[in-house]
Parts: sequence; structure tokens; C-alpha cells
Amino acid sequence: MSELKRQTELVETIVLKYLPDPEDRHQHTVIEAMNYSVTAGGKRLRPLIMQETYRMFRGQDEVVEPFMAAIEMIHTYSLVHDDLPSLDNDTLRRGRETTWKKYGDAMGLLAGDGLLNYAYETALKSFDLIEKEESLFDTSPETAYSRYQSCAKALRILADKAGINGMVGGQCLDVEASLNNMTLTEEELLFIHEHKTAALIQAAFMIGGALAGAGKRQIERLERIGYNIGVAFQIRDDCLDVIGDPAELGKNTGSDEKDEKRTYVTLHGLEQSEADERRLTEEALELLEGLPGKHDFMVELLMSLLGRRN
Ligand code: IPE
Ligand code: IPE
Ligand code: MG
Ligand code: MG
Ligand code: MG
Repeated sequence: MSELKRQTELVETIVLKYLPDPEDRHQHTVIEAMNYSVTAGGKRLRPLIMQETYRMFRGQDEVVEPFMAAIEMIHTYSLVHDDLPSLDNDTLRRGRETTWKKYGDAMGLLAGDGLLNYAYETALKSFDLIEKEESLFDTSPETAYSRYQSCAKALRILADKAGINGMVGGQCLDVEASLNNMTLTEEELLFIHEHKTAALIQAAFMIGGALAGAGKRQIERLERIGYNIGVAFQIRDDCLDVIGDPAELGKNTGSDEKDEKRTYVTLHGLEQSEADERRLTEEALELLEGLPGKHDFMVELLMSLLGRRN
């Protein structure tokens, strides 16, 4: 656990380093609202996964850092918008009032927009770091070129998993289902969980691999691992909405019931949900064994999610 704590603190520093400075500008309010939600904390799971995957394939260096910050910005924007009155209408997040509650609906929307765009502005800084690496280590143009290519691949993954074929797509069916009081089939519920939640977790694994030069087959395996971990993560989130403690969670429980959401728990019950969470995680750990590098910390990180309290 102490290693997890140490790594989370390191990730925290990286995420905060890339936040925009409100300074004394006309648009300071939107920047403050953006930073308000990011600095409120959170588990930082996605950047942790990304960094550890990168380490497994390549070791440690700075190039992954802008992408770590970027994925946390996109994740945070998804939460800021998810909490809006027109979506889940929630008032507590990461132990604080939600962004819209504190700054108003309009600024809540804009803070999300700002974070989404700033995520790409930030990810693009990885190109500057490669340039720096190139002059510092006098790398060959071929090496630098393949590093730039990896960054382009990572950007494509990020854009794809955050958009209509990823998180936004999942949120679409999620809100529509509760708005129209739809009875979801098993297939539809899995579509929601895969897209609204697993997509960004898949992106974390895949970008870590892509930036570190992993091959096509390895990236496909990372995508499968991300699917399992992501769906298990949302199953647990659905359980915590029923059995969690708001003080530990930093968000209110009973939010799904309030919105009359069909969740994994309403469809399968708590016991089956917990069994499926475990099965999906175990399958992910088996898939992990086929990948290079040291896995100790990755295993510890993924196991820490099983039966989590927040
Ligand atoms: C909450 O995500 C929303 C889901 C996708 C289930 P997290 O549980 O990762 O939230 P933070 O980042 O720790 O606040
Ligand atoms: C949200 O799912 C997933 C996102 C893409 C934000 P939930 O609506 O269940 O997440 P919480 O419970 O509000 O964190
Ligand atoms: Mg929601
Ligand atoms: Mg919600
Ligand atoms: Mg939830």
C-alpha cells in the first residue's frame, strides 16, 4: 500500500504541474473552475495505469507525463459534465461541492469544455519533450521520428476513446436510458459500461504502451486488459452507489436510484456483481502475464481496486 501511496503522490505532482495558470486574465473564472475540480483530488487511476504501462515497456522518462495529465483532465471534465443538473444532477464530488454547484451551470459547462480542450493542448507538449530529448542525447533523426510517430498514435487513441466511440458514446445511452426509463438489456448495459468508463481506462493502458513503442498485438492485449479492468471498475462504482459511505467516497450515494438508473446492481444484484468484478479482474491479470517487463506494481494497483471503498 505504501508504494501505491508514493506513486499516487508522484502522479499528483505531474498532474498539477500541467494545470493552466489563472493569473490576472479576463477568463480567470473558467480557469479557476477547471482547476477547482482537478485539484480536488481523486484516485488518479488513469495516469497511474498509463505511467506503469509505459514503465513496463520502456522504463522511466518524461515523455509520458503530458499524456498522464491530459487523460486526468479528460476524465475530470467527464465528471464535471456528468454531475450537471441536466445529467446526474449531483452536488458532491471528490469531497467538495460539484463544479456547477460552486460556479453555476454555465461555468460548469465551460470548465468541462476548457478541460477537454486543454487536455489536447497538454498532450501536444510531448512533442516538445521529444525535441528536447533529441538535442540532449543527440538521438538519430530515425529514433526521433519513431518517437514522434508514437506520440501521434497516442493522440489518436486518446481522441478515439474519449469521443463518440468511447466515453461520450457511453454517456449518450446512459442518460437516454434514464431519461426514457428504458429497460436495458444485458448487451446495452455492457455497452454503457464499456464506453462511459472502460474506454478511458483502455486509453490509459494503450497510450502507455503506444508511447513506449509497444507493437500492435501488445496494444490489442492492453485494450482487452483495459476492457476488463474498466468494466469491473464501473461494476464496483455501481455497487458503491448502494453500499458505499459518502464520507469515504467523496460523492453522494443513492445517486443512481434518485435518477432511476438501471445499473449492474439493479440488473444482477450485489452478490453477482461482486463475483463478476473479481472474475473480470482475474482475467485481466492473466492477460497481463503475456506482456513484457516487471508487473509487481501493476498487479498491486489492479488488485487494490477489487472491493475498493472509494
Ligand atoms: C468516477 O471515476 C466515475 C467513473 C468512471 C466510475 P473515479 O472513481 O476514477 O473518480 P476519481 O477520479 O477517483 O474521483
Ligand atoms: C460516470 O458514471 C462515468 C463518466 C463517464 C463520468 P457515473 O455517473 O456512475 O459516475 P459517478 O458515480 O457519478 O462518479
Ligand atoms: Mg452518470
Ligand atoms: Mg454520475
Ligand atoms: Mg456511479
